[in-house]
Amino acid sequence: MMGFETLLIEKTGGIMKITLNRADKLNALNQQTIKDLDAAFQDVYDDPEVKAVILTGAGEKAFAAGADINEFKELNYMNGRKFAEYGQEVFNKIEDSPKPVIAAVNGFALGGGCELAMACHMRIASEDAKFGQPEVNLGIIPGYGGTQRLPLLIGKAKAMEMILTGEMITAETALKLGLVNHVVPKEEVIIKSEEILNKIINKAGLAVSQTIECVNAFYKDGDGYQSEANAFGNCCKTEDFKEGVAAFVEKRKPNFTGK
Ligand code: COA
Repeated sequence: MMGFETLLIEKTGGIMKITLNRADKLNALNQQTIKDLDAAFQDVYDDPEVKAVILTGAGEKAFAAGADINEFKELNYMNGRKFAEYGQEVFNKIEDSPKPVIAAVNGFALGGGCELAMACHMRIASEDAKFGQPEVNLGIIPGYGGTQRLPLLIGKAKAMEMILTGEMITAETALKLGLVNHVVPKEEVIIKSEEILNKIINKAGLAVSQTIECVNAFYKDGDGYQSEANAFGNCCKTEDFKEGVAAFVEKRKPNFTGK
């Protein structure tokens, strides 16, 4: 199997562990990471030895702190929409995986990082994990399925609050809201994920894959994702978006003007 620029891959006892490996950038999801996830999940689909997946982040601080904001400077309506559509496609591939996928969330899961965790079938969080959709602070919206999956997982009112305020929530709150399955000490996120997956991987493979397909089918409806990609593109046209990204890069507060 090929090596990846942005991911570490380990396969042990039927479980493939995929580690986002840009710890110095809090595992921010650049385009290369999205491409690498696409290829890694193709391998999940194709390799009969792989029965289940754990997705986690390298380092002590983050699962993933969002899409890579440094790559946002070039975005406009057309490529912004494509950016969202490709991310959605890869995250749908993760959600549609016939083999169970657990996100072992070992720190910040923000923006695209929160969306990535939500595309997984289950989430185990460390006690210090933080979840959030802070895109509004940059003048954009979640573009990798967050406007669709967050309300499905925690309900419309709380999802509105999180996405509109951009504020983070703790692991404990995420547990209460149903965003995560379990909260454990940091050193146990992988152990707990393995414990759950080991209960699943010896069961009938078809029953497992059909369960995933049927549960997903209940939630899939249609063009909410397309609306999200279009709206993401619209935000990418604005002066406020340029200002939000510039402010992050320059480590200052944005000055939004409504243009
Ligand atoms: N894109 C690109 N780089 C990012 C990033 C992102 N989403 N999140 C963090 N980084 C980088 C920082 O720029 C910094 O790089 P540098 O050392 O070259 O300056 C490095 O990762 C460490 O982050 P830093 O901000 O110094 O850590 P912190 O502990 O002070 O703050 C966060 C942690 C998560 C609160 C902060 O990094 C943050 O707000 N990140 C952006 C979150 C976000 O808006 N995500 C949604 C994007 S749509």
